[in-house]
Amino acid sequence: MFLKNSWYMAAWDHELIDGKMLPRTILEEPVLLYKGDSGKVVALEDRCCHRGVPLHLGRREGDCVRCMYHGLKFDATGKCIQIPGQEVIPPKLGVKNYPIVERDHVVWIWMGDPAKADPADIIDFPCLRDPQWKGVPDYLHYDANWLLIVDNLSDFAHLAFVHTNTLGGSEEYAYVTKPVAIERLPNGFRVERWHKDAAPPPFHRKVLPAAEKERHVDRRNIGSMFVPGIFFLQTMFSPAGSGSENGNREGSRQYSNVQFMTPETRSSTHFFWTYLNDFEGDDHNISRSLHQSLIEGFMEDKHLIEAQQKVLDADPSFKMLAVAADAALSHFRWTFDKMVAAERAADAADKAPGKIATTIPIKAPHQAGQNA
Ligand code: FES
Ligand SMILES: [Fe+2]
Repeated sequence: MFLKNSWYMAAWDHELIDGKMLPRTILEEPVLLYKGDSGKVVALEDRCCHRGVPLHLGRREGDCVRCMYHGLKFDATGKCIQIPGQEVIPPKLGVKNYPIVERDHVVWIWMGDPAKADPADIIDFPCLRDPQWKGVPDYLHYDANWLLIVDNLSDFAHLAFVHTNTLGGSEEYAYVTKPVAIERLPNGFRVERWHKDAAPPPFHRKVLPAAEKERHVDRRNIGSMFVPGIFFLQTMFSPAGSGSENGNREGSRQYSNVQFMTPETRSSTHFFWTYLNDFEGDDHNISRSLHQSLIEGFMEDKHLIEAQQKVLDADPSFKMLAVAADAALSHFRWTFDKMVAAERAADAADKAPGKIATTIPIKAPHQAGQNA
């Protein structure tokens, strides 16, 4: 059910400061993440190859980690380089290593065949490094399958009902606005939606100067969703009737919202997010206010989605029904399923008896992958 050959967000870089040993299950594999003395992030299988004790209970030594049960020491590639009291170390002894890329405060991990990991495939979000965009990056844990969260983010109509008093503003949003464009992409979709001449929704109103709180706005949302579960929402609020749809940006305020859904297991998800604004200048309280509003909104989603997961678990024969507003999410699920099927078929072909491998063979576990 998982797409293995894909980059996933494993952590924010701030989660690894001060020598932290971070255990995190990703795609049902236990992973240990840490930053070595060299400054590079290391990701290793979080299970000592000797007796299976988690390595996150061990001790970091430079870029290496020592299991604190019987003292086996592993380097940043996962290779065992010391066995206390034993001279000879079998050359293949070690734990799995995962390719890692650290970019724009995001730690990316590759869970599939290391020979196929290409950092050029990582989606670029310039707003994550542009000092004009400010925000507070954060994390939430969900007891739900990541695709249910993807579904939720794929349809802005839910803003109207789930988030009426927080992020949405009114139920009217679901009735009077429609996506003006749905673009089907090979790895996801892009939708655009306008809501004209409406009161600013509560989260935005809170950060507006007093003189502007009652003024109507034109709201534009452009949402993009990418495989395996990366969401990018570009929101703009402009003075109502100012012609922002024709490119006039005067008086506009913008938000860039990046969210990463990384499966922990088939029924739980790591949800990383940051809600950036381009207008706070030196007033960081705007970021703080938005951060709180967003958490309030996300808890509304989480409440429903975790309940939905329980209902789906109770009766696996239940089939969900699609309505017109589900076009984008249906396309995403179809695209995703196709990619998983292609990956399975390629794996099966590579493993077929008598088959000459068409891909670069997977290296021994301790040599697999490198930090980029
Ligand atoms: S379990 Fe790790 S050294 Fe024995
Ligand atoms: Fe939501």
